[in-house]
Parts: sequence; structure tokens; C-alpha cells
Amino acid sequence: MTKKIFFGTNLKMYKNIKETTEYLKTLSQLTKDISRDNMELFVIPSYTSLCSAAQSTDKQFITLGAQNMCWEEKGTFTGEISPLMLQEMGIGLVMIGHSERRHVLRETDDEENRKVKCALNHGMTALLCVGETAKEKDYKISDEVIRTQLKIGLHDIPGSQLSRLWIAYEPVWAIGESGTPASSEYAEEKHQTIKNCLTELFGEAGSQIPVLYGGSVNPDNAVSLISQPSVDGLFTGRSAWDASVFNSLIRKTVYIKSGSCI
Ligand code: 13P
Repeated sequence: MTKKIFFGTNLKMYKNIKETTEYLKTLSQLTKDISRDNMELFVIPSYTSLCSAAQSTDKQFITLGAQNMCWEEKGTFTGEISPLMLQEMGIGLVMIGHSERRHVLRETDDEENRKVKCALNHGMTALLCVGETAKEKDYKISDEVIRTQLKIGLHDIPGSQLSRLWIAYEPVWAIGESGTPASSEYAEEKHQTIKNCLTELFGEAGSQIPVLYGGSVNPDNAVSLISQPSVDGLFTGRSAWDASVFNSLIRKTVYIKSGSCI
């Protein structure tokens, strides 16, 4: 049976509305011949681009997601966006706890848990990001940090909602211009830690939750990363922001797990 690979990109605070719609149009065109039985392709634009993106993107080719969400439907939360507002635009995927939300904007594991629960209770798919800082890696507490983020972030999630949960492992030291990509061996080790923890939390169903790697994924390391047995997908920043580069990265890797070629 073909194993579905996840490919996604987070556009962070870069592309404006016009750039986002053009990017999505090109990416759809370039990748539409690749069967979606083989892959899940998602793009997470800025809030301000989401509405036009949703109107102009064919959802059978690209799933759109939001970069964050409030844990309440409405209320005194100035500057926040509610699940109902995302759903009004047809958005069914939300990223929660990205490294920049945790470390620049100081979000806590408790907050991530409230957001994950809210997303799942509203029928949305939640992409929870976890990962240790360089300091935590130096202290050799990466596994403890990742397990804590998972145990708190996923506290009280019912088994019936697990099919709408994805995890991204993004070590903080690997992300962005100054990041060093994790070696594929290191990524595999941490993905195993994550899968073991998910199995402890949810039993067999936990082992089915897709775990994506993110942090300086590029056309040179993508093949080796996706070849790791516990890496179910690639969550890419910079190397995906040019649609043709992302398309070639996808084509290099999409059939690796199934052994066929494009
Ligand atoms: P880079 O691939 O640019 O390191 O970004 C990764 C990321 O933060 C995806 O969410």
C-alpha cells in the first residue's frame, strides 16, 4: 500500500495577498499531476492572505491552514482570531505552537493545549509543533522537553479526534537563516521519541499520527530526511517559498516511501 507523505510550508510573515495567491496558483499547476493518494500538500499563509487564498485555491490540490488561533470562539481577545472566523473562510487546518510562537511570543504548553483542544472540538485538523532549543539540546534534555510539550499539549484529547492531529518536530536550533539542519539520524531518533510518546498516550492509534520534520529542509537533505522510517513528511520554510523549488523538492521525495518513481 502506498504511504502518503506530507509536504507543507509555513509562509510566516512574508508573502502579501498578491504574492500568496500567485504562489498558490503556480504550486497547484506544477504539482497537480502528482496523485493526492501519495501526498498531502498544505500551505499556511498569513491571516491577511487567507481569504483570497481560500477563494482562489482548489482544495483538492492544496490544503490551506492558519498560523495560529485563539482557544475561544469569541470574547475580549483583542488581536486574536477565532476558530469560527477561520471556518467562515473555509479553513480547516491550524498550526499550533510553532517555535516562533513559543519562543518569540512566549506561548506556553498550557495555551497550546487549549488551542489544540479548541481546534479539534471544532472539527479542524491541528498541527502541533514541538522541538527543543539549542540550550536544551546541550543539557541533553531534548527528549524530556519534547515529551513534556506532547504530554501537556495533548492533555485530555479524546482518541476519537486523533485522525485530525498532525505533529511537526522542529528543533528550534534548526529553523531559519541561522539554523543548522538536523542530521537525518538525529531527526529519526527524535521522531522515534515522539512516536513512542504518542503510543504511550494513545495506544496503537497514537502510532498512526503523522510526524513531520521541519527546520532547514532543503533540496540537498530532503531525500535523506524523508527516507527515515519515522519521518512522515517535510515541513519546509525557505526552500518552499519559490514554488518551482518546492515542486522539485516534492518530486525528488514523494515516491521514496513507496519505492516507485515519478
Ligand atoms: P526553515 O525551513 O526556513 O528553517 O523554516 C522551518 C519552519 O519554521 C517551518 O515552520
